Amino acid sequence: MSGIIFLTGASRGIGLAIAIELLKSGQRVATFARTTSPELAALQSQYPDTLFTVNGDIADPASSTSALKKSLEHFKTTSIAALVLNAGVQAISVVARASLDDWKRAFDVNFFSALPIVQAALPGLKEGGGRIVLVSASAAVMPIQGMAGYSASKAALNAFAATLAVEEPSIPVVAVDPGLVATSMAMEAGIKGKDHFAPDMLAFAAKASESGLVLKPDAPGRVISWFALNASKEVSGKYLSWADAAKIAGV
Ligand SMILES: NC(=O)c1ccc[n+]([C@@H]2O[C@H](COP(=O)([O-])OP(=O)(O)OC[C@H]3O[C@@H](n4cnc5c(N)ncnc54)[C@H](OP(=O)(O)O)[C@@H]3O)[C@@H](O)[C@H]2O)c1
Repeated sequence: MSGIIFLTGASRGIGLAIAIELLKSGQRVATFARTTSPELAALQSQYPDTLFTVNGDIADPASSTSALKKSLEHFKTTSIAALVLNAGVQAISVVARASLDDWKRAFDVNFFSALPIVQAALPGLKEGGGRIVLVSASAAVMPIQGMAGYSASKAALNAFAATLAVEEPSIPVVAVDPGLVATSMAMEAGIKGKDHFAPDMLAFAAKASESGLVLKPDAPGRVISWFALNASKEVSGKYLSWADAAKIAGV
């Protein structure tokens, strides 16, 4: 029996879509988020043998590493097929009005959380021939007014992927932009962004949503699941834009 997949931020949005995709393909999945949404609870009833959910805050290393340990014990294995770090939060504000606490929280959740869970997962990933997928964002590689704190946290994640790939060549690690996706995060950006985003960005967002440029979560769900199961050493260490990731995954 192959190893398990440990997936963060699966209570809704892109993470929930990744969980659905992985479960449909027969994987054993452990999910980690602060809450169990009704959708995740329904999934648990649908897949009682292959889905295990643990609640906790990814910014708390004791909570995340104990969740990984519990998940391995639950599935009676020490092997990890993939670690998918998808949980994330925004910090929306122009620099002039930004809150240091919001920036620190974004870095704690989006970036610093990766270190303890990756460290804890390395032995299982090596044993299981596993992969790491870090959910990044296009904001990491292009300036978006009002998103500096969030962008910097995702850029740090990209740099982490690049170095980890060098240090751990046996474990493919890739940072993937999931595209512009209709989730509660995108809705929050639409509301909070009104006071911070540039007018052309607000116009683009309105147009994108009207013209169908905004993806449904199942599209990145399929692409990120594909990388969790198939990322090769050729892409290891790379940040992949949504367009490149979708092309490589071919799904
Ligand atoms: N939506 C987009 O257009 C877009 C674009 C680029 C990148 N992304 C990235 O894609 C990922 C998923 O975003 P999404 O749009 O699906 O967002 P979302 O709908 O807000 O979902 C975020 C998920 O992360 C979990 N989470 C948040 N803080 C957490 C914490 N401290 N500990 C554990 N889990 C936590 C949430 O669960 P709980 O609240 O239950 O903890 C939820 O399951 C994020 O990394 C985001 O930055 C999204």
